[in-house]
Amino acid sequence: MPYDNWTDPDAVFTTLALLPNGESRSLQAPAGWRLMEVLRDYGLPIRAECGGACACATCHVHVAESGRLPLSAPEDDELDRLAEIFDADDSSRLACQILTGPQTDGLAVRLAQGSLRDDSLRDDPLRDDFVAGGVS
Ligand code: FES
Repeated sequence: MPYDNWTDPDAVFTTLALLPNGESRSLQAPAGWRLMEVLRDYGLPIRAECGGACACATCHVHVAESGRLPLSAPEDDELDRLAEIFDADDSSRLACQILTGPQTDGLAVRLAQGSLRDDSLRDDPLRDDFVAGGVS
């Protein structure tokens, strides 16, 4: 939805989720949601085991493309969790620590392998794509 005023309470922001098989999903959400919740609500197989408490690091994503505005810098808790992940790099963020809004509009994130639910590979409609395409 195009918008000119980012304070519009009806504004919807679009983030692109890149899946391990190379497909992508366009996610739309109003401001103020945790990106992890949006990923989960769209049925994407993100583990997010602590429910957004910044305690598990199983909502790890890689920022593949910045949005129209820069994301806010990670807090110390997020940096501590990221430091515990073997495949974290400079593009890594925790999806539960990213709030939707103008800063997520145009953002593209790639779900990290360690953040995928194993059972989703069995039960999710994307299963065959994940299995056939492998996990990057
Ligand atoms: Fe646990 Fe994000 S859901 S750290």
